[in-house]
Amino acid sequence: MASQEDIFKKLIAHCKEYGFVFPSSEIYDGLAAVYDYGQMGAELKNNIKRYWWEAMTLLNDNVVGIDAAIFMHPTTWKASGHVDAFNDPLIDNRDSKKRYRADVLIEELVAKFDDKIEKEVEKAAKRFGEKFDEDLFRQTNPRIVENREKRDTLHARFAKALNDNDLDELKQIIVDYEVVCPVSGTKNWTDVRQFNLMFATEIGSTADGAMKIYLRPETAQGIFVNFLNVQKTGRMKVPFGIAQIGKAFRNEIVARQFIFRMREFEQMEMQFFVRPGEEMKWFEYWKQFRLKWHKALGLGDHKYRFHDHDKLAHYANAATDIEFEMPFGFKEVEGIHSRTDFDLSSHEKFSGRNIKYFDPELNESYVPYVIETSIGVDRTFLSIVAASYEEQALEGGDSRVVLHLPPVLAPVKVAVLPLVKKDGLPEKAREIMNELKFDFKTVYDEKDSIGKRYRRQDAIGTPFCITIDHQTLDDQTVTVRNRDTMEQQRVKIAEIYKLIDKEVNLRNVLKKLGE
Ligand code: GAP
Repeated sequence: MASQEDIFKKLIAHCKEYGFVFPSSEIYDGLAAVYDYGQMGAELKNNIKRYWWEAMTLLNDNVVGIDAAIFMHPTTWKASGHVDAFNDPLIDNRDSKKRYRADVLIEELVAKFDDKIEKEVEKAAKRFGEKFDEDLFRQTNPRIVENREKRDTLHARFAKALNDNDLDELKQIIVDYEVVCPVSGTKNWTDVRQFNLMFATEIGSTADGAMKIYLRPETAQGIFVNFLNVQKTGRMKVPFGIAQIGKAFRNEIVARQFIFRMREFEQMEMQFFVRPGEEMKWFEYWKQFRLKWHKALGLGDHKYRFHDHDKLAHYANAATDIEFEMPFGFKEVEGIHSRTDFDLSSHEKFSGRNIKYFDPELNESYVPYVIETSIGVDRTFLSIVAASYEEQALEGGDSRVVLHLPPVLAPVKVAVLPLVKKDGLPEKAREIMNELKFDFKTVYDEKDSIGKRYRRQDAIGTPFCITIDHQTLDDQTVTVRNRDTMEQQRVKIAEIYKLIDKEVNLRNVLKKLGE
């Protein structure tokens, strides 16, 4: 059986071969941790964004959307804390000259203990078969108990060092646990240093006195600085939310795992403004709403879990991640944070403006508290493609690669295929396509055998293929092939629209969320 690592490599190759994701500026050998989305990827990405936007702004009538600029006044980032505190703790290996995130090295150590425990459980499950009592085994097996104790001790030490911002202690953990550099194999480490993740550039010409500005590392600040603009012009009443989709930039040092950790990426963020003291109620509400959003895609409920933060960001009083089971383990796809009144109060202080909200029901003014939901478009893309990818063995020794994408997100909804390139079949196929193209992303394909054409559509996740044959000309029926079951049914041309719409209309998924 192929390892998860092999499957991940194949997935990356597949994304390139079928026009989903290309390395950026590839003709110049690419740029690390920067990617371009191709003709299929751009469609899939747009569909993900539309799903998020409509779920947030249509289903919640107190959430409105904006589109703020990437460049912002530099004081924004002083006020938000990013100039002083948006850092990664880095450590270099003197022999390989490679740089690592100290926290990632330690997280990998913690994960090793977890792996040992899981392997022990797997072995025992095989050995004992149906009689196996997993809970009891986890509680009593001496090797598991020992590894859990070691893991918990390390984890507690790590969490404390992070929370205290104790860089010496982070280094000491790496020394004590004898972490070696994967490249040089040595333990010759430098001290741990903080490294700011923001990209800086200049605005205006040097002669005018250019101003140093940053590429935004999160879209959220564009929402905070517009809080009063939107509240006043939209006559919004607390509680209400402002949503936004846009690019963000971080100078990630450990840039790995394809589009999981990029230097230029896209976020879908919402800030929900609430009365002080009501933030935990809304934190719970948005946690559940956002998990439902993910699960409604039908990729498998067991692939998601919440993970509460060990270290809270400088602005948060509660935070959790929604993690997804990627080919390289459970990883964060979305963060849900209770950001208190940190950002608005800080902008009030730095700008000298009054950013308070007058609550007519309470007859008092206050700085609202904020619940944030922040999800990466690229990570969501990766989770969906990874969960959809299957190398399937078929009867008769044949095989296919199929992307079981949620039909509502599939880049192409329907392929129209004349069985042969003659006898008026291409003309009939074009006629059908010309009707469907106003409602669905449709492609026309007449090249190669019908089997090969089906495989091409399977590989990009097209949920339906319509084949036009000689019978079509006689009785106005076509065959409709289902991507997942490969079953074909004979359908009247007049009924195609309804059949496809039932599966690909976003309304059906949104309804699941609105219930
Ligand atoms: N405004 C809060 C914020 O930015 P975050 O946890 O740093 O919080 C939110 O980021 C989401 O943005 C993450 O859950 C992830 O999906 C995405 N994200 C963050 N850094 C990323 C990167 N380097 N590459 C791709 N996606 C990233």
